[in-house]
Amino acid sequence: MAHALNANSGYSRSGSGREAGKDRRVRMASNVIITGGAGYIGAHVCVEALSAGARVLIVDNFANSSPKAIERIREIAGESDKVEMLEADLVDDATADILAERAGRFGADAAVHLAGLKAVGESVAEPARYYETNIRATLTLIKALDAVGARRIVFSSSATVYGEANQSPVNEDGRTAPTNPYGRTKLFIEEILRDLAASAAGWKICNLRYFNPVGAHASGRIGEDPKGVPNNLFPFIAQVAVGRRDSLSVFGDDYPTPDGTGVRDYIHVVDLARGHVAALDYLARDDAAAATDVNLGAGRGYSVLEAVAAFRRASNRAIPVSIAPRRAGDIAEIYADASRATDLLGWRAERTIDDMCADHWRWQCENPMGYAEE
Ligand code: UFG
Repeated sequence: MAHALNANSGYSRSGSGREAGKDRRVRMASNVIITGGAGYIGAHVCVEALSAGARVLIVDNFANSSPKAIERIREIAGESDKVEMLEADLVDDATADILAERAGRFGADAAVHLAGLKAVGESVAEPARYYETNIRATLTLIKALDAVGARRIVFSSSATVYGEANQSPVNEDGRTAPTNPYGRTKLFIEEILRDLAASAAGWKICNLRYFNPVGAHASGRIGEDPKGVPNNLFPFIAQVAVGRRDSLSVFGDDYPTPDGTGVRDYIHVVDLARGHVAALDYLARDDAAAATDVNLGAGRGYSVLEAVAAFRRASNRAIPVSIAPRRAGDIAEIYADASRATDLLGWRAERTIDDMCADHWRWQCENPMGYAEE
């Protein structure tokens, strides 16, 4: 059943988020640069890092995000003096020096790197732009971190690096074979970071391979705000439920899955964000490996039709669907073996698909046009 506030969220307007963070204190990585921190996942990472006691320096060019998100992060965390912002494009060479200077004053000791382009279809149409943007941004960040001796990076990677090469549940030793340029930028950046970690310079990196992040902060103040027609399932469903679109096209019902529709591992974005805090903690440990790849998923799959049914329950709205042809490049089924995240980071996903839908729905209702209208 949908419920008003997630019991696990640790959130209330009186600021209990800080209490929930007591046992999740970011150890040594107390001053964290968060690139892409105004984006959907980034904003949630900022909130959870702040709630765990960190200061954050958000680096964003607002190419696919809104400055409003920064206000909302400050509002939720209630610690606006702990939130700094640098509006800059990591693709510009000049940003390395500017960021190094800011990072030095900020006292950065780690970074969470989320900035980048992420639309699969666009990456097929414009591969060079994807390689240039995602890889250059990473190299700029590395230069700036190196200059200030902050050599810990948590990277926003994706289960897309696995492609269709593996049986689910897929673990981190699975074969990597991404099927599009976007996915290859993620894999190549992982490789760059592994090379850094293998050098003698003392880098420690953690590649977090996200499954399908959905939902929103329980406050309803931050959430996913896709520009144009949503590519992904949950934002599309939410826009149908709220009446912005007529019906959902289900891409294929003839897959070898229980109901014929695609199966994915949906993970609540707050759980995902807390996974970053756990990774920062891990990298601050003396016994942390120099390079680690970690799946962040709930460890179970839901079909498209199951996701729609869950969203109907949460929203109590009709969500018309029609069956459409398969979408090019989609795979039948993927879900995570998330045991490494538990063993190494002490993290596991806590929120259910009903929580994901209820929180996604609250965000959608309270912000029907995303951040565009207040
Ligand atoms: N789907 C529909 N209708 C839609 C949108 C999606 O039926 O309108 C289906 C898809 O076919 C798939 C499932 O819903 O079975 C999930 O689709 P998403 O687009 O939400 O998610 P994907 O698993 O395709 O995408 C995710 C990440 C991407 C990543 C990709 C790699 O969101 O960042 O995995 O496969 F690149």
